[in-house]
Amino acid sequence: MCAARMPPLAHIFRGTFVHSTWTCPMEVLRDHLLGVSDSGKIVFLEEASQQEKLAKEWCFKPCEIRELSHHEFFMPGLVDTHIHAPQYYFAGSHVDLPLLEWLTKYTYPTELRFQSTDFAEEVYTRVVRRTLKNGTTTACYFATIYTDSSLLLAEITDKFGQRAFVGKVNMDKNDTFPEYKETTEESIKETERFVSEILQRNYPRVKPIVTPRFALSCSETLMRELGNIAKTHDLHIQSHISENPDEVEAVKNLYPCYKNYTDVYDKNNLLTNKTVMAHGCYLSAEELDIFRERGASISFCPNSNISLCSGFLNAVEVLKHDVKLGLGTDVAGGYSPSLLDAVRKAMVVSNTLLINKINAKGLTVEEVFRLATLGGSQALGLDREIGNFEVGKEFDALLINPKASDSPIDLFYGDLVGDVSEAVIQKFLYLGDDRNIEEVYVGGKLVVPFSSSV
Ligand code: GUN
Ligand code: FE
Repeated sequence: MCAARMPPLAHIFRGTFVHSTWTCPMEVLRDHLLGVSDSGKIVFLEEASQQEKLAKEWCFKPCEIRELSHHEFFMPGLVDTHIHAPQYYFAGSHVDLPLLEWLTKYTYPTELRFQSTDFAEEVYTRVVRRTLKNGTTTACYFATIYTDSSLLLAEITDKFGQRAFVGKVNMDKNDTFPEYKETTEESIKETERFVSEILQRNYPRVKPIVTPRFALSCSETLMRELGNIAKTHDLHIQSHISENPDEVEAVKNLYPCYKNYTDVYDKNNLLTNKTVMAHGCYLSAEELDIFRERGASISFCPNSNISLCSGFLNAVEVLKHDVKLGLGTDVAGGYSPSLLDAVRKAMVVSNTLLINKINAKGLTVEEVFRLATLGGSQALGLDREIGNFEVGKEFDALLINPKASDSPIDLFYGDLVGDVSEAVIQKFLYLGDDRNIEEVYVGGKLVVPFSSSV
């Protein structure tokens, strides 16, 4: 059947597709055909031998097929489950202090400057461009306490075509830098304004997320009210948990009546199946069980955890507890905006736990590739929409060229015979960068190279 009424396909690609499934951390599909509908959804992914059948069914001609080179491949877009957009201003600097001192000396004074929407526009434009260029098709952003500049971040992500959650940060406590906080009432009222404004704008791929900064900067009243806002509008929630020993101790002292850090969020309506908590380095087995029971997820931010000397997340334990897990850059506690860097640092952390005999088994690079794509999509509750190349999902994808001009990867004869080998894919994961990411698609739309209209 070739329905004349059917809109033409947006893309038909022939070549190698690399993605994860829940049963296979890295599946390499060579000489396959993938079709993308007008609405950006994957409509088929089959062996190229099925071309004739597919051409009849989907009404396309051979000349409409774009053939990749033998060394190129598509992989799913990278999902950054935790990034602070305003902190991109100082990314790559100022990682010389532990968390609480770092927040006071560098982070809060920087975020204070986002009262100015002009300043925000410059930094937010740069962070969205940089992350997209590095293959982040979905980002879960913290903005600042300022509603108007947070709305601007949502507008900019939408304009560039990045899929995103954007959160106006909430904090009604700040003893070490009191200039940067809100009253409880303001925080609630402004969150309602932020959420209703974004929902009204009806962006196709940019959504609001409720963002209490962390237990140390929120009163119980504020946490509970934010939980209620999330429930009313069925929204996602993000925060930080158990990142650093001093922070864990301070939470114990501030909230002595709770069983543990997780209990503070749980009893105040913030631990739901739409919650993503960054770090979790010091969560107990009991706390991980609560995460699983609630369906809440963890964002593993290895660069930040190492750079701020916060700790090591035992990702193998988290996965053993069946807790959803994704990767995050945590810019600017993490100095790199690239998820490829997060993949490498996650391997370093996993190997460190192995060397120190804390774990008997580490993560494979294929498993970390899954965390960066499918795992991240699950952590953000988007695994029905994105995360791999399953038919019916949106086409969020990166076209990788390991032989791009000025590529940081050297390939040798053995790497180049036949279609892409597993070794070349690994070389990209360990050595590649944005020079190898030739094209980026979100919802079937080409967003990198940037269009001249943005
Ligand atoms: N905990 C509370 N706020 C922050 C932040 O901005 N970055 C990190 N890494 N941890 C936090
Ligand atoms: Fe963070």
